[in-house]
Amino acid sequence: MPAALFKINPGEALLLEKRKQIRKFRSSDREQVTRIFIDNAFAGEGLADYFPRFGFLAWAMMGRYFIFRRDFFWVAQDEKDQVIGFICGDTEHFCLNLLKIFLLAPVIAFWFILDAPFITRRGWDLLGGFFWSLIRGEFNFNSREIPRDYPAHLHINIAPGLQQKGLGSELMEIFLQELEKRSIKGVHLRLYDGDDEGQAYRFFKKFSFKEVTRKEASFMSRVSEEKKFLITMVRKIERG
Ligand SMILES: CC(C)(COP(=O)(O)OP(=O)(O)OC[C@H]1O[C@@H](n2cnc3c(N)ncnc32)[C@H](O)[C@@H]1OP(=O)(O)O)[C@@H](O)C(=O)NCCC(=O)NCCS
Repeated sequence: MPAALFKINPGEALLLEKRKQIRKFRSSDREQVTRIFIDNAFAGEGLADYFPRFGFLAWAMMGRYFIFRRDFFWVAQDEKDQVIGFICGDTEHFCLNLLKIFLLAPVIAFWFILDAPFITRRGWDLLGGFFWSLIRGEFNFNSREIPRDYPAHLHINIAPGLQQKGLGSELMEIFLQELEKRSIKGVHLRLYDGDDEGQAYRFFKKFSFKEVTRKEASFMSRVSEEKKFLITMVRKIERG
């Protein structure tokens, strides 16, 4: 675990190097955050060929954080105020999660109606595979202990081309500091990876995350040539 790069004051923009800034998410960041998410979706496999218009996917995958968890959402921006990376998360609470899905449903449905005519054949195929994986239980944790012992979860994405420059580490440091400050005892995340340890897997291991579950994600074979797995990784948060 690398030493903390800096201490943060909540909500305050931080100057990183000379040009980059990390700050809290704003509504106006939604489009740029979505672009990075789509370009990186499913461990670096971009989704633009599947969903040429992103509204539906963005709200289905990110709406929960856009609306309910801005306090848990940071973006990195460059000198032109372009968002170049983000980290966001939430804490697992079954009833609250259901309520969020219920409240978000009309927004997601609205975007689905707008986007459906533009979804490509491959996109429909992927969506079909996704629901098939869902029915087969491929997304289940298979454990009640993970949300109990590691109640927070996170998503992190850095714009392709700007990865491997230390930005992800800086965002991760901020996120982990915030968890510590809120006395949240642990965090989990889920990522797609092949048999070999990919870049993201190694990144999380560097931050002391350990793998606890690995299940084949059959729908991912529609996006990628190699066999992919949905992996759950966890990390305890030490009190400072
Ligand atoms: C995984 C991910 C978040 C990591 O962020 P990142 O900004 O690329 O990570 P960092 O640059 O901080 O660290 C990655 C590597 O770059 C190295 N690095 C850090 N600063 C560097 C610099 N200035 N110059 C060169 N290398 C550097 C780090 O040491 C690290 O190397 P290591 O793998 O040998 O330990 C990012 O690559 C990403 O978004 N990937 C695609 C999406 C994804 O898979 N997300 C995870 C699913 S939730």
